[in-house]
Amino acid sequence: TTGKNTTSETERYANLIPMKEIQSIQDRLFPFSIYDTLRKTTPVRYDQTRACWDVFRYEDVHYILKNPKLFSSNRGVGNKQGNILKMDPPKHTKMRNLINKAFTPKAVNELTQRIQDVTTFLLDQVKAKGTMDMIHDFAGPLPVIIIAELLGVPTKDRELFKTYSDILVAGAEDGSDEAFKVMMKKRQEGTMFLNGYFKDIIQERQRSPKDDFISLLLAAEIDGEKLTEEELLGFCILLLVAGNETTTNLIANAVRYMVEDTDIQEQVRTNLSLVPNLVEETLRFYPPVQAIGRMATEDVEIGGYTIRKGAQVISWVAAANRDEQKFAQPDRFMLERHPNPHLSFGFGIHFCLGAPLARLEAKVALSMLLTSFSKLERVEHVELEPIQSPFVFGVKSLPIRLSL
Ligand code: HEM
Repeated sequence: TTGKNTTSETERYANLIPMKEIQSIQDRLFPFSIYDTLRKTTPVRYDQTRACWDVFRYEDVHYILKNPKLFSSNRGVGNKQGNILKMDPPKHTKMRNLINKAFTPKAVNELTQRIQDVTTFLLDQVKAKGTMDMIHDFAGPLPVIIIAELLGVPTKDRELFKTYSDILVAGAEDGSDEAFKVMMKKRQEGTMFLNGYFKDIIQERQRSPKDDFISLLLAAEIDGEKLTEEELLGFCILLLVAGNETTTNLIANAVRYMVEDTDIQEQVRTNLSLVPNLVEETLRFYPPVQAIGRMATEDVEIGGYTIRKGAQVISWVAAANRDEQKFAQPDRFMLERHPNPHLSFGFGIHFCLGAPLARLEAKVALSMLLTSFSKLERVEHVELEPIQSPFVFGVKSLPIRLSL
């Protein structure tokens, strides 16, 4: 078959229904050997159930992301939300140039002190307890507080943000129609809530601008035109969802790895200049975003298969990052890996705008965590539970024992 299907239903299925090979909790906690098998046996394949192509090899994933003309980000669901992730050039280029200004390495570096202060505050709250839930107490709040401050929304609302961004990244519980409907309903409610929430803030800033991101975007123009309210809303919600959940999982996935591999934990603790390597290797090894979706704009050949115009194509970054054609000893976590051309922030024109911020937050958070405690350990009897989304790699909660 050719997967010639452009309905919005199709995109939703491809995104939100787990592939049949990865269903059990155990497989979702450790999917990488399954990706390995798929990459070796069916590097490019059409999945009937999810109505999409899956691509697993580094070379092929790289090719797809490098060719936005052949593989569109606007996957046939319209673009009512003004979501930059779903735009193609030329609109994408304009939108991106506009918001890029706020995310330059310089602008981000100026946040270092604030990130350190928030990290100190979060660590102080758990120090005396001797344990913490890595997600709830640390990796969850940090990015939410920082992004809320950047956007200029009250940090007291961060619990709300967390709740709604969880809802917006969640997939269906299982492959049933019932589960799909429940999820879609929750998503609609989530989007409606956040739309209303940000609409109020945007109107407030229209009346009296402040020194924050929303005010900056309100004043910005593309070719003499302001962003529409929809574009603004879409962007605020994207930052909240794309920026938080992912950074939370990056920090937590690094800790999850370090409690499994105490040698690595010790190496980094005794030589903090290795923290950036720890961050990059965590991105490769445990990528917070496992897959990236596109739609073919014309008939195109990949790995000997013809993908038809209009078909959904899912690029499995989590599989590509462990392709032995690209990485030596791909299943070893190597702090000394250099270069480390993982695809975890994407590649090409949609390369993650928040990468400098995510890297900085992870660097500060992990350095301070390692120096605050002499040892981080898993609380053994607690079973890990994967986040309910086929695209996100992370756990819902990660209890950690802390030794001073
Ligand atoms: C795009 C991952 C953090 C904002 C992307 C893409 C990936 C990604 C894979 C490309 C999607 C595609 O090509 O379709 C991640 C990961 C993060 C992270 C793994 C943390 C570890 C952030 C943060 C922000 C952010 C902190 C903002 C505060 C964005 C935006 C785009 C994007 C706006 C769209 C760029 C475009 O379409 O041109 N991210 N992200 N991300 N990310 Fe991130």
